Amino acid sequence: MVAAAAIAPPAPAIGAASAPVIEIEDVTRVYHLGDVDVHALRGVSLRVERGESIAIMGASGSGKSTLMNLIGCLDRPTSGTYRLAGKDVSRLSASELARVRGERIGFVFQNFNLLARTSAVENVELPLLYAGVGGHERRTRAIAALEQVGLGSRLDHTPNQLSGGQQQRVAIARALVSQPEIVLADEPTGNLDSRTSVEVMAMMQALVAKGITVVLVTHEPDIAQYAARVLTLKDGKVVSDTRHEPVRAVLEPEVAS
Ligand SMILES: Nc1ncnc2c1ncn2[C@@H]1O[C@H](COP(=O)(O)OP(=O)(O)OP(=O)(O)O)[C@@H](O)[C@H]1O
Ligand SMILES: [Mg+2]
Repeated sequence: MVAAAAIAPPAPAIGAASAPVIEIEDVTRVYHLGDVDVHALRGVSLRVERGESIAIMGASGSGKSTLMNLIGCLDRPTSGTYRLAGKDVSRLSASELARVRGERIGFVFQNFNLLARTSAVENVELPLLYAGVGGHERRTRAIAALEQVGLGSRLDHTPNQLSGGQQQRVAIARALVSQPEIVLADEPTGNLDSRTSVEVMAMMQALVAKGITVVLVTHEPDIAQYAARVLTLKDGKVVSDTRHEPVRAVLEPEVAS
């Protein structure tokens, strides 16, 4: 079962409280490959309010991961500005970006990115370890995060002792343990069957209900419909940006066998 009720609220804003959590203005990103310039983003603007859920779609190579890397402070724009909760982060140094990232952003990946031979609770503790949080508090917060995603009884399981959906829930707990304002998920259901995908999207919707902003990349329209907004990229540009009532991710009861 998905335990959605106890997810912690996001950290307070670093800029003005009313500022959009993501404010991207006319951003470009050019990769230099030898003599060749690859224009991965060609003037993207995007405002996302606190507690919005947005799915980014588009063909392979359209710039989705490039945009996610910018939003996640893993990378900086070539030109244009990015304000995160009101603070301009477009020209920060790598170490300043890393700090903002650690405080504000949680990441979920298609292939879970969990350490093998490492227990669920230790995987979830990792971001806190990097942030210098002490051992006792780390353990307490990691257990709470795993309980939030319904895995309180799997603390000592290693990834290969967990199902794909459970592994992704460990990854979501790891993303949540630092109480981020934004959760970024690049194809979070790409390696999951349809039932487990719904379970993961139910978790994402629970985060949104708590005021966390969720940005996800997906190739699947079925998954995008769980977000309230769908942004489509083509050749590094936004070609559509639509809002709609999201479909609720509800799990059918499992048929007993
Ligand atoms: N590190 C890099 N160096 C050079 N070019 C890159 C780099 N990363 C991405 N690109 C190029 O930038 C463009 C956008 O790539 P990006 O990874 O953002 O696409 P995507 O929409 O995420 O695609 P996919 O659906 O396949 O994941 C592509 O043309 C790609 O080849
Ligand atoms: Mg990609």
